[in-house]
Amino acid sequence: MSVFILRGQVLSFAGDPFVDGIETAKIESDGAVVVENGLIVESGPAQTVLPRYRGARIEHCGGDLIAPGFIDCHVHYTQMPVIASYGEELLEWLNQFTFPAETKFEDKNFATAGARLYLNECLRNGVTTASVYGSVHPQSVDAFFEAAQKLNMRMACGKVLMDRNAPDALCDNAQSGYDDSKRLIERWHGKGRATYAITPRFAITSTPQQLEVAGALWREFPDALMQTHLSENNAEIAYTRQLYPQDADYFAIYERFGLAGPGAIFGHAIHLTEREKQALRESGSSIAHCPTSNLFLGSGLFDMKGLGEGQGHIPTGLASDVGAGTSLSMFKTMKASYEVCRLQGYALHPAKAWYLATLGSARALRMDRRIGNIAPGYEADLVVIDLNSTAMIEQRVSKSRDIWDTLFAQIILADDRAIRACFIAGEARYRRA
Ligand code: GUN
Ligand code: ZN
Repeated sequence: MSVFILRGQVLSFAGDPFVDGIETAKIESDGAVVVENGLIVESGPAQTVLPRYRGARIEHCGGDLIAPGFIDCHVHYTQMPVIASYGEELLEWLNQFTFPAETKFEDKNFATAGARLYLNECLRNGVTTASVYGSVHPQSVDAFFEAAQKLNMRMACGKVLMDRNAPDALCDNAQSGYDDSKRLIERWHGKGRATYAITPRFAITSTPQQLEVAGALWREFPDALMQTHLSENNAEIAYTRQLYPQDADYFAIYERFGLAGPGAIFGHAIHLTEREKQALRESGSSIAHCPTSNLFLGSGLFDMKGLGEGQGHIPTGLASDVGAGTSLSMFKTMKASYEVCRLQGYALHPAKAWYLATLGSARALRMDRRIGNIAPGYEADLVVIDLNSTAMIEQRVSKSRDIWDTLFAQIILADDRAIRACFIAGEARYRRA
């Protein structure tokens, strides 16, 4: 593939804005990103970069923002059919809407159609990578990775492990869950851009025997990811404590079975005790912050300031958690995060919100050396954002004080209409009509 160049305003990170300061999020107002063979080979001021690549094809993006593709570090593709289901809290919502919807993914053709729909929606929203829950059926993961492979998207996915407290049609058992997951790991993990995520749904739907084998499987394949839910809802926590009375708290259950550590992504993590926060931090685990979901189900307010800020913070990424989450758009997800922080007296700077939705999520997935940033050696998963995508945004941006004010307005006002183009490993996979 020949060299091509994207020229426009370029967003990149020289550090973690939560730890190293917001100045480490950089905007090059007239930047050039050089792409070759799916990788970024150079990025910098157009003035200095362009003279070195005479004859290369240049895509002029004008005042558009060229940014790392968005990364959604916790989402259920199997729940697209039940997004926006009315009226319930977590456990009732699972029983009433989610579990019935997931039974349909036993049918491989249904799963393939669902995976295609989900991935196309990702592209339209500038989401280039996600950590995805399948259903209990291994064929739901085959369908997902096959569809992702066709688009060459870097995706993580895993078959949900659940052997109790769910309809029979959705239950595996400790042995079959282990066997099916292992087969999927051998088939998919590290093939092309696929990463396997060992996926015990949460402690309520797994027996101790199943969590035991999930831990054993992770020890066998330590470079796979491990994803689950933690401390999302008060009724969930109470029931979990009843099912695991010997453990000091919710997180201690996962610790006991070897399900904590780098590469472990805990969805929600809202109602944590001080011990759990400390243990999460020390273990090197990550958090998937799911603000639209937490608001939609009324689960609670994530403590960004306490968990994500400063030295000793817990690596945190941003997540849609669709179908409890209400949008695949990372603009809407960043907006919800800002508002949740606002309710707790904390202002989430747009540089931090954008970091969570890109490099922060990449870090949660242990992919922060490959994706989530614009720098030499990174994979060219990029999004081109129209900063004037609606009349409302245009009039607001015309009064912006600076670029971060403009990007903050995008967080609050923009949606899929702002996505001008989405590049996957250097190929334009989506262009707005
Ligand atoms: N906890 C266990 N399963 C789920 C799920 O599918 N969605 C959410 N939001 N929480 C969960
Ligand atoms: Zn979830």
